[in-house]
Amino acid sequence: MSIPPDHIAIIMDGNGRWARQRSLPRSSGHQAGVKTIRQVVEHCARLRVGALTVYAFSSENWQRPEKEVSFLMELFVRALRSEVDKLHENNIAVRFIGELDVFPHALREEIRHATEKTAANSGMRFNIAVNYGGRRELARAVTAIAASVQRGELNPDDIDEALVTRHTWLQDVPEPDLFIRTGGEQRLSNFLLWHLAYTELFFTNTLWPDFNVAELDAAITHFSKRQRRFGQTGDQIEQQNQND
Ligand code: IPE
Ligand code: IPE
Ligand code: MG
Repeated sequence: MSIPPDHIAIIMDGNGRWARQRSLPRSSGHQAGVKTIRQVVEHCARLRVGALTVYAFSSENWQRPEKEVSFLMELFVRALRSEVDKLHENNIAVRFIGELDVFPHALREEIRHATEKTAANSGMRFNIAVNYGGRRELARAVTAIAASVQRGELNPDDIDEALVTRHTWLQDVPEPDLFIRTGGEQRLSNFLLWHLAYTELFFTNTLWPDFNVAELDAAITHFSKRQRRFGQTGDQIEQQNQND
């Protein structure tokens, strides 16, 4: 097995189509997707991946039918309630990224409980993006930075990329090395726009409830064969590898 990436980011897509293929309601697809998350989280922790960030609900997903949105809110509450002890046992630190204050009280409570209970864990960092939008994240960062300038605490000349990163929700984890999107769409859907600048992208047609550990391993192997050049030439990278 190849060396795993330090940070994996996943768009878990295709639950609705998985259900439709089986003539089931979309909610059954979301329900089935929870099992996949559990397997992926446990596998990443076993592989000693440093951080896993998953997209569970986008800032645009509020536009779905009300029935689906409320099912998802209830599913998040149930899933957090049933999974948090296991996550804690596995020494995983759970964090949530996105605008959380708009959620129903019960969900905000589960989010708080899961975050606090696992806060001191030293194993894998598990970030769950809910009501998350990459543009919203950047707009908030700009607002916060502008306020610092206005208060006289910051000089506009001191605004650099590292400062912007520090104003994002993923400020304290290295940017993702590998991005995976299931469900066949090849787009970012407003996920981690700032942090994916140099991430390796992997798309699969597999629908999220059918995604599994074997396919995750295949994605990691695929990733390990890519040459990450960050603007340099392939020869330069080979030279550096020889010197290491
Ligand atoms: C992803 O699956 C889950 C969420 C967005 C919450 P979808 O529900 O988008 O599934 P498809 O794309 O309709 O198949
Ligand atoms: C992205 O999937 C959001 C999540 C997986 C949570 P969508 O299914 O909402 O994305 P679009 O609308 O097809 O781009
Ligand atoms: Mg979708």
